Amino acid sequence: MAPMQDVTDLAFWRLLSTYGGPDVYWTEYFRVHSTSSLERWILESITRNPTGKPAIAQMIGNDVPALVRTARELQKHPVAAIDLNLGCPAPVVYRKCAGGGLLREPKRIDAILGALRDCIGTRGIKFTVKTRVGFDDEAVFQELLPIFAKHSLDLLTVHGRTVSGMYRTPVRYDLIAMAVQAMPCPVLANGNVSSAQAAGSILQETGAKGLMIGRGCIRNPWIFDQIRSYLTQQAVALPSGRGVLEYVHALWQATEPPSSKERLQVEKMKKYMNFLGAGVGPDIGASTRFLHDIRRTTTREEFFRICESHLDHENPMPLEPLVPENNAAAPLATAHGDAT
Ligand SMILES: Cc1cc2nc3c(=O)[nH]c(=O)nc-3n(C[C@H](O)[C@H](O)[C@H](O)COP(=O)(O)O)c2cc1C
Repeated sequence: MAPMQDVTDLAFWRLLSTYGGPDVYWTEYFRVHSTSSLERWILESITRNPTGKPAIAQMIGNDVPALVRTARELQKHPVAAIDLNLGCPAPVVYRKCAGGGLLREPKRIDAILGALRDCIGTRGIKFTVKTRVGFDDEAVFQELLPIFAKHSLDLLTVHGRTVSGMYRTPVRYDLIAMAVQAMPCPVLANGNVSSAQAAGSILQETGAKGLMIGRGCIRNPWIFDQIRSYLTQQAVALPSGRGVLEYVHALWQATEPPSSKERLQVEKMKKYMNFLGAGVGPDIGASTRFLHDIRRTTTREEFFRICESHLDHENPMPLEPLVPENNAAAPLATAHGDAT
């Protein structure tokens, strides 16, 4: 499961694990700077990981001593790996030359990876990187791959878009395939894994060892099991509309804090619905109407009335995006009031 800020928290991990879930869970990113400390709510997904599967802690930042200090601290906790974010496209992040912004400065990446490689590895903990293929030009990827290889990463995840491509542009699976050829470590392919069939073709086209799935699993929590079935030549079971409706109820329940105000929880649910709604069928018109109507709800009753009017049926749901997923979903400000 991909790291997704304000989505892939402890509650979401717990819920998705009940649908089969992924083989590995990435945390949202820990923000690292000279005075940072580990965000409590992110650390909880590691210390209270209920999934029975490995957790990988992601960091974002560019301050070498702070990254080293944080990586040391994180290794005191039950993590399978420490991951560095080289892809976040939020302007507040990349303007500070962190996340995707670092892709404009390969020399700086070289120095950061060297320092992190030296301090990560206690108790078999791995060092991994999640990257995009460039800032605004994919040409830099040719320069980045030897740097990644030089630092003996244990795993590289490639989201096959540039930072300026956000979530819009076609995914460059050819560049992911290039990374697979160039890297001595396993590579995961990331970007638009939207169905079991898509997963099969992306694995074939890229030669990647595995996949990382983000928006696809918010829309379709069954996707991990569907992919397992597909890859082992078993029938892929699709949920019915009512199955999806039950998922929306479970999502509400799982993510509602104990003393949450109804209005706030409706707003929170709209964030998930941006992704799920893209796949609410049977056609593009129904999906667009669902998204339009759900964005106007303010109470629990209204919210579920709209959900029921679209999902209270027994037809199978492929849950593939019929309308483009909301690009504005990229992290800009967190639920914790903390601009990223
Ligand atoms: C709401 C949201 C939050 C995200 N937060 C992070 C993050 O914290 N760290 C990160 O490396 N990528 C983050 N991403 C990017 C995803 O991990 C993933 O690379 C991207 O969505 C493409 O994969 P997909 O097509 O399967 O969604 C985020 C994406 C979304 C939509």
